[in-house]
Amino acid sequence: MSTTFHIRLASLAAKDNERFLAFVDSQLPWLESVGSGGQWGSTPRGNVEASQKKAFTRVQKSEACEGKPYSSYWGRAYVLEAEVDVDSLSDEVKQLSGPPNENGRVRVPVAGMVLESTSADYVRSILPEIDEKSPFLYLFFLASDRRTSSINKGSGAFLINHAKEEATRLGIRRIAGDCWTGNGRKLVQFYESQGFKSIEDFEAGDQKWPGTVFEMRI
Ligand SMILES: CC(C)(COP(=O)(O)OP(=O)(O)OC[C@H]1O[C@@H](n2cnc3c(N)ncnc32)[C@H](O)[C@@H]1OP(=O)(O)O)[C@@H](O)C(=O)NCCC(=O)NCCS
Repeated sequence: MSTTFHIRLASLAAKDNERFLAFVDSQLPWLESVGSGGQWGSTPRGNVEASQKKAFTRVQKSEACEGKPYSSYWGRAYVLEAEVDVDSLSDEVKQLSGPPNENGRVRVPVAGMVLESTSADYVRSILPEIDEKSPFLYLFFLASDRRTSSINKGSGAFLINHAKEEATRLGIRRIAGDCWTGNGRKLVQFYESQGFKSIEDFEAGDQKWPGTVFEMRI
């Protein structure tokens, strides 16, 4: 049977905060190999206290906001799982999966996404913290687990589609976010392929990290 995707809310009990950092760390060698090492650097985040704290806070906020309407303190963190036949998996990916069901199918966490109602602080010259006239959901985090590349194809696109559904459910007509523009804007092209449009480029921090703010009206 083929792969099916399922989205669940992230939880501290499931250690999804740690999982999100593992997703980032799984991408670092790949990013380097395609010439995008400047996007996230080469330091694994799993053991960095500031990264652990940030991931914990995002998942904690998501749990606190469950069932709450959109507000200036709104956030949701999601985990995308791929359901596959356990026999189709390599030993490495089997170790990342949950227990098999009676049909020999397992769920493997393959990607994560965080949405919030305020923009990132380093894009405020382009996008206000909150725009009351044209409110948005801000895509704070999107990453797949490179270790699961045999089954995660399309996971980012699937989660972005879920962001659109979530926005519609909340009565919000706009999704915004930012990404790195280096390496020939390959990542920007991915977001454009998903329906986003770049609004304006920026350089963040002392290192002048090159980025763009993008948005999609729905
Ligand atoms: C973004 C992401 C979740 C999309 O997952 P997906 O829907 O399964 O799509 P793919 O992984 O197949 O990526 C689509 C295309 O974008 C490219 N791409 C994705 N992330 C990229 C990046 N950071 N830098 C350069 N190219 C990237 C892929 O190489 C692929 O190109 P191809 O179509 O020529 O093969 C996943 O690619 C990912 O986690 N990338 C690394 C982390 C990242 O950059 N996250 C976004 C932060 S703003």
